[in-house]
Amino acid sequence: MDSSEVNKLLGGFLGTCFIVFSIGLVSDGLFASPTPEKPGFAIEAQEPAEGGPAAPAAEAKPIADLLATANAEAGAAIFKKCQACHSGEKGGPNKVGPDLWDIVDRPVAEHEGFAYSAGMKDFSKGGQEHWTYDNLNHFITSPKKFVKGTAMGFAGLPKDEDRANVIAYLRTLSDNPKPLPQPGASAEAKPAEGAKPAEAAKPAEGAAPAKPAAPAPAQ
Ligand code: HEC
Repeated sequence: MDSSEVNKLLGGFLGTCFIVFSIGLVSDGLFASPTPEKPGFAIEAQEPAEGGPAAPAAEAKPIADLLATANAEAGAAIFKKCQACHSGEKGGPNKVGPDLWDIVDRPVAEHEGFAYSAGMKDFSKGGQEHWTYDNLNHFITSPKKFVKGTAMGFAGLPKDEDRANVIAYLRTLSDNPKPLPQPGASAEAKPAEGAKPAEAAKPAEGAAPAKPAAPAPAQ
């Protein structure tokens, strides 16, 4: 192999290196998506300001919204599952569980003649806690998760629609059905007073949209 051939080979090799390297630089420049040091959007600002109860993560829709489209007749069919253990008539008997007449807004664990579990008595806070629509919704979703130590041996109704329907039916078991909650007026969903989530969510002043980084100078 004479030296001119060696030179050609070397030249070819160097040329290839140069092209590969340049492509790398150019594509880095084109496709790089650098993480800006300061995100342009203040995401934390959309959470309720201090003091608000942390909304349970798994909860998709507030019961007020679900009840707005609920169907008490469909709920009567679901209530058949509850009737294995509960009566729903006025002055009805306690069975495995207490009679559920007028259960909406009834004080927790206060039905005459029923021996409640220690867990349910704890939850009642001495009769202060009531079966609000919210409490019923959470309890029926998963009784044992919501009221630790409850004796209610029922797995729960995971479907939003089923719960809303059965609660709409429970509401009718009363001489004086309680008013339905206002959809969209759930305290949990409202931002705390004074918080301006819309403004806070704007990009911080002076924060320019991230520019693609210039290709790094060749070393
Ligand atoms: C396997 C039996 C059983 C089934 C089925 C059942 N429950 Fe219960 N339920 C109980 C028992 C027992 C208690 C008392 C719980 C305690 O003391 O911890 C109870 C308590 C309750 C309470 C609280 C009552 C109060 O006076 O504080 C509500 C509300 C309730 N059940 C609703 C329902 C609904 C709605 C269904 C159907 C979706 C249902 N339950 C299905 C056994 C049952």
